[in-house]
Amino acid sequence: MTVREIITPPNPILREKAQPVTNFDDPKFQTLLDDMVETMLDAPGVGLAAPQVAVSQRVIVVKLSDDEESKKEYGSDAGVLHIVINPEITRTSREKVDGMEACLSIPGFYGNVQRHTAVIVQGQDRSGEPVRIKARNWLARVFQHEIDHLDGILFIDRATEIWKQVEPDEVDDETGSESRSE
Ligand code: NI
Repeated sequence: MTVREIITPPNPILREKAQPVTNFDDPKFQTLLDDMVETMLDAPGVGLAAPQVAVSQRVIVVKLSDDEESKKEYGSDAGVLHIVINPEITRTSREKVDGMEACLSIPGFYGNVQRHTAVIVQGQDRSGEPVRIKARNWLARVFQHEIDHLDGILFIDRATEIWKQVEPDEVDDETGSESRSE
């Protein structure tokens, strides 16, 4: 497995509509999946879409942390690795919620984005078998963010407010202000 480079704007691949996967037996495709997982964990991040590693295919990987704090917060969603091919959101809750997002392709920024509280994601696993995932709360947010990447949409397009992360050495001692990153 290999950690791949995560691309950033203005690389146009981030803005393309990614292509559906049809050939699950291709060894290069299976390697892509393993590399995406390794790249996400190395970053570290909780989700990654194939366009972020410059591959315009409809593939996402998602894994919420599984440390003690995360287990309390996410329950049984903590630490579960999801590899979803050709994912689609087939149902959404009417209820939406605001939350802080960041993106490995937009380093140094975070923003407030309104997302559905719960979604149902349908797609295929790495062997092409159908999968259906009921996601709520933080997991639902991550799926919506990653699936957006497959349509060339970045969280900064949806954010109602965007902040630049302040580096520790940039913190103004006069005000003591600092930023919080998620
Ligand atoms: Ni992202």
